Amino acid sequence: MKTKKPEAPQQLDKQVPSPPEKPSENEKPALETTTLWDYPKQSYGKTPKGNNKFQGVTPAFIIWNLVQRYTEPGDLVVDPMSGSGTTVDVCKEEGREVIGYDISPQHPEVIQNDARNIPLPDESVDLVFIDSPYGDNVSYSDHPDCIGRISCEDESFYLELEKVAKEAHRILKPGKVMGWLIGDQWVKKTFTPVGFKLYELLTKYFETVDVICIARRGQSSHTGVWHYRAKKFNFYLRGFKHLFIMRKPALSKSKKTSTKVKWAKYK
Ligand SMILES: C[S@@+](CC[C@H](N)C(=O)[O-])C[C@H]1O[C@@H](n2cnc3c(N)ncnc32)[C@H](O)[C@@H]1O
Repeated sequence: MKTKKPEAPQQLDKQVPSPPEKPSENEKPALETTTLWDYPKQSYGKTPKGNNKFQGVTPAFIIWNLVQRYTEPGDLVVDPMSGSGTTVDVCKEEGREVIGYDISPQHPEVIQNDARNIPLPDESVDLVFIDSPYGDNVSYSDHPDCIGRISCEDESFYLELEKVAKEAHRILKPGKVMGWLIGDQWVKKTFTPVGFKLYELLTKYFETVDVICIARRGQSSHTGVWHYRAKKFNFYLRGFKHLFIMRKPALSKSKKTSTKVKWAKYK
């Protein structure tokens, strides 16, 4: 009689991504057509975009897609929280003008500046991209003005993000777009809907173009031990981030022409 083979140990780390493929020289991302964007790696093409060793680096594909959809060559793109400069690298390759700021720059072309006070004139920018801090477990720098030092469980975090949103709104030309990437938090048995809270405040200033779900891959929690803990202690690992695509209204509400039917016309 055949003896039964012992069962294979439970596969816990199914979601760990395979090692990035070697990028081909002319590789360009695909233009997204749905609201679910899922990237197996951080960057594309021959040259790096940002620094994929920087904690919190943005997938370059996201910025590429926003740049293709909402700007023309020569337009000005601003990233007030540029970190390792992914936006700068993507925009330069795509022939866009770009200014990257950060409180603690990690890229030679990123300028040191606080996102709550952007040194640009009103209505001078064609696209703003922001990938802001949100999680209490990430330390971007020791700079005292880093907004990431404030807990997203604390209301003051949203007051500071609102200052950034107001600046983004001020510098954008009317009718132009801002993309803001952010995740939610679950720590110590507490869920914080950071995305919904930010979205609510953005709608005070912007119209919604769309909301995109960005699949999260490759982060440190996608390991066997974390999947094991998620099952054992009955919680979920974060599987996605929100990308809010918001438009500065073309005309301020007070200046908007009335859409009411002029009944006099039908007399
Ligand atoms: C998620 S990271 C941005 C990643 C970046 N897009 C990249 O690809 O490298 C968030 C950034 O916000 C910056 N930051 C935090 N507070 C800031 C502030 N008050 N003004 C400007 N930047 C700030 C941090 O230093 C950090 O680099």
